[in-house]
Amino acid sequence: MDPSTVFDERIYLTPNKPRIRKIANRFIDAKVTEDAFYICDVGEIITKHNEWVSQLPRVKPFYAVKCNDSRIVLRTLAGLGVGFDCASKTEIKKVLELEVDPSMIIFANPAKQNSHVRTAAEYNILKMTFDNANELYKIKAYHPSAKLVLRIRCDAEKAQCQLGMKFGVKVEEAPTLLELAKSLGLDVIGVSFHVGSGCMDPPVFDRAIKSSKWLFSVAKEMGFDMNLLDIGGGFPGNRGTSIQEIATVVNGSLAVHFPEGCGVEIIAEPGRFYVAAAFTLITLVHSVREIKGKEEEGENDSFMYYINDGVYGSFNCVVYDHAIVHPETMKRNTGPTYECSIWGPTCDGFDLVCPSEKLPKIKMGEWIMFSNMGAYTIVAAGTFNGFPVPKIHFVASYEAWTTLKEFTSPEEFVTNNIPILMKAGVGYNRDAIGWDRVVGAAGPGSCLTQFEQQAQPVLCESPSGNFSDF
Ligand SMILES: Cc1ncc(COP(=O)(O)O)c(C=O)c1O
Repeated sequence: MDPSTVFDERIYLTPNKPRIRKIANRFIDAKVTEDAFYICDVGEIITKHNEWVSQLPRVKPFYAVKCNDSRIVLRTLAGLGVGFDCASKTEIKKVLELEVDPSMIIFANPAKQNSHVRTAAEYNILKMTFDNANELYKIKAYHPSAKLVLRIRCDAEKAQCQLGMKFGVKVEEAPTLLELAKSLGLDVIGVSFHVGSGCMDPPVFDRAIKSSKWLFSVAKEMGFDMNLLDIGGGFPGNRGTSIQEIATVVNGSLAVHFPEGCGVEIIAEPGRFYVAAAFTLITLVHSVREIKGKEEEGENDSFMYYINDGVYGSFNCVVYDHAIVHPETMKRNTGPTYECSIWGPTCDGFDLVCPSEKLPKIKMGEWIMFSNMGAYTIVAAGTFNGFPVPKIHFVASYEAWTTLKEFTSPEEFVTNNIPILMKAGVGYNRDAIGWDRVVGAAGPGSCLTQFEQQAQPVLCESPSGNFSDF
């Protein structure tokens, strides 16, 4: 059987919060694939959104598509009413394909290619950032009716990825750009900044908001009527992290500089916050090199493990995103641990995923998993040396499904490898699953027959596929 008939882009429903390790072990035991694979808990994205709304109620999120552009991620966020920060015409088109309104997109790349600006104009994407004079001439030529957002520089003292060396005008130089925009007849509607991705300096948001406020007053004197503040990204997303500390600073600073009722819309461009924790990568240890420790010097044996995804694939995050990743064994093992390093599958010595870890002894053919792999991983992964980018399998709890079903068609869900439409007996009645919205479903079983036909091969040949006990 072609494994792709089992693992496709449908969302597998589990009665409770998906237990990723258990689901992954089931996939592995089923011997369906020897390639690395992802499991994405879509419910995690909904949880993050709820956290955002409760922590930053005044700030409307525009998700940074560059972080993870998986269709189900984008569709889920669109369904939740989140806007999008796009960096290119391809990202713009990808979001528009989901029938997102152009007003929900900001083209937040301060250095855009002409053709991309033309695409923005063609699709009526109005909001776009800029930070230099030449960009203004470009926008004047290709999209003169754009609503411009001036990106200023304000760097976190400590961040996983600094961005200020590339983008953002110094705030004291910003008025000159506003003067130029005025003389070109361009409309500048607001100010943006990005303090750095993976910000570890929450007070920087206060400094940046204060500077923005100053620029708002300067702009007002020049005759601009600014009404948008974009506080960028920088919010943490890994398991166990919280945006509370940043939110406290942001909310306090907004209350002082942009109080409620001031007429300024506040938006942000969170990326990793939404997706980092939702994705777990599971990789096969296909080769092991044992390094004998010198007994006479009291040295223990150590190991080099070779896995089937590396820095040219998902673990490009180690290089570009300065991520530090940690493996976990598939079985909770409390036995002795040994020093080891973990290497990717290519023939390049640079392909080192973890230089130094302590793990129980791992045999060839065992799998290891990496949590928090949703941000800046798959999007930038390549197939160097012929190794594929891992496939993503989506799961969600029944509880998450009650939200997802509002904007996802019923046939995209499965329980026990059976399309949910078949599962009148899984605790949902036909009305609850939107039965009446499915063309033909209201008729005497026509749609059911179609799904029965599709489901049978999956049902019969699925090696295990029963998710109901997770
Ligand atoms: C313009 C812009 N907005 C938003 C983001 C997302 O940042 P983060 O993932 O830190 O939230 C980035 C990341 O590089 C960016 O360049």
